[in-house]
Amino acid sequence: MSGGSSIWGGRFGGGPSDIMEEINASIGFDQRLHAQDIAASMAHCRMLARQGIISEADAESILDGLSKIADEIAVGKFHFQRALEDIHMNVESRLSALIGEAAGRLHTARSRNDQVATDFKLWVRDALDRLDLGLAALQQALLDRAETHAADVLPGFTHLQAAQPVTLGHHLLAYVEMAGRDRGRARDARTRMNESPLGAAALAGTSFPIDRHMTAADLGFDRPCANSLDAVSDRDFALEYLSTAAIAAVHLSRLAEELVIWSSAQFGFVKLPDSFSTGSSIMPQKRNPDAAELVRAKAGRVIGDLNALLIVMKGLPLAYSKDMQDDKEPLFEAADTLDLCLAAMTGMISEVTYDTAKMRASAELGFITATDLADWLVRVLGLPFRQAHHVTGSLVKLAEQKNVDLEQLSLAEMQSVEPGITQDIYDVLGIESSVASRTSFGGTAPDNVRAAIVEARRRFFEGEGQS
Ligand code: ARG
Repeated sequence: MSGGSSIWGGRFGGGPSDIMEEINASIGFDQRLHAQDIAASMAHCRMLARQGIISEADAESILDGLSKIADEIAVGKFHFQRALEDIHMNVESRLSALIGEAAGRLHTARSRNDQVATDFKLWVRDALDRLDLGLAALQQALLDRAETHAADVLPGFTHLQAAQPVTLGHHLLAYVEMAGRDRGRARDARTRMNESPLGAAALAGTSFPIDRHMTAADLGFDRPCANSLDAVSDRDFALEYLSTAAIAAVHLSRLAEELVIWSSAQFGFVKLPDSFSTGSSIMPQKRNPDAAELVRAKAGRVIGDLNALLIVMKGLPLAYSKDMQDDKEPLFEAADTLDLCLAAMTGMISEVTYDTAKMRASAELGFITATDLADWLVRVLGLPFRQAHHVTGSLVKLAEQKNVDLEQLSLAEMQSVEPGITQDIYDVLGIESSVASRTSFGGTAPDNVRAAIVEARRRFFEGEGQS
């Protein structure tokens, strides 16, 4: 029991039971909102004074007390108490110990409902900016590697079966696009969420002559939220962060999966750096891609966090319900997880060694230029593609029977299947000529890749900081 001295103590005789306190308290996790909570209180305080709702003297002492609290927290001297439930009441109670009566005026014309919505929005806004930066760093790492490997060839897969040769630069650029869309989602979400809930008070607004535009501007919001009921019950911004995060985590897990497969001895396309691998305690030959495996796994958590909050919000009537206190842990977990996964992936991509000889050798297997052969039959002999496909299939079968590559079939053997074939066909059967021919917009030809890198740097990095 913690006695009847809580902030709403006026109406209560006894304190909450220990279990009630445990289920009710959020200070264990919402102390992460301390900087936002203090910033929002300072903005509110300045506005109250400007509007003549509290005196300048009280405002000064409140601001002074709040900055002392910020210092105490910064140096680890602040004593967070579960009995005080959450960050808002922990700060207010300390303020009252520091400055006395004036502390009680800070909560004029506001409620914890608009307070928590404001604090949490400020935190999520920073998390969106951090996500944008983390994704940009990953893009830079990918672009650097793509530049080096613009012309190096590996098998491109569909169904994880060798399909057509592609360039490594092209493959890496695919992930630059994914990260670019993730950044777009983060920026869109930031624009949409940047409205201030502060001053919505408990749910209905307030009778005090507050200036919500002032507090909004002070906290870097574009404007106040238009509807007080919506302001305190909206958690779309958290859901949008989480959906953006979940999609980004899925992208990272796909890249991670490729590192896992590619680093196996059977593929041997990459060698992970010592800094991102571990050995086995029993099998001395092993170098395990643990970091990549964990990035692959952790997407599960982020997806779970999105689900958790969607389920909390589903069916909640307006306006605030305590259910919404459960928005924070999933979001913090997702943000911490994603920040870590992005850092790990950026590190791996920067430091991994690509075995381009192994990739190229692998691209020789599996009749990977069969499509080039079929395209030649269409282009040069004028066969309908379906017929060219059939002829090529017979040639592949013949090569398979003779245990040779397509380009090792003699011209006579080729002509036994399609009499129109000429010596020129051999020009399109090589791996390099295959990739070099894929010059359609967005295609894999090395020249395209080089141009695409320049274009990607322009699209994703020029005008940076001006948006
Ligand atoms: N700790 C609460 C939360 O995170 C703050 C808002 C509480 N409001 C209330 N009316 N009990 O949601």
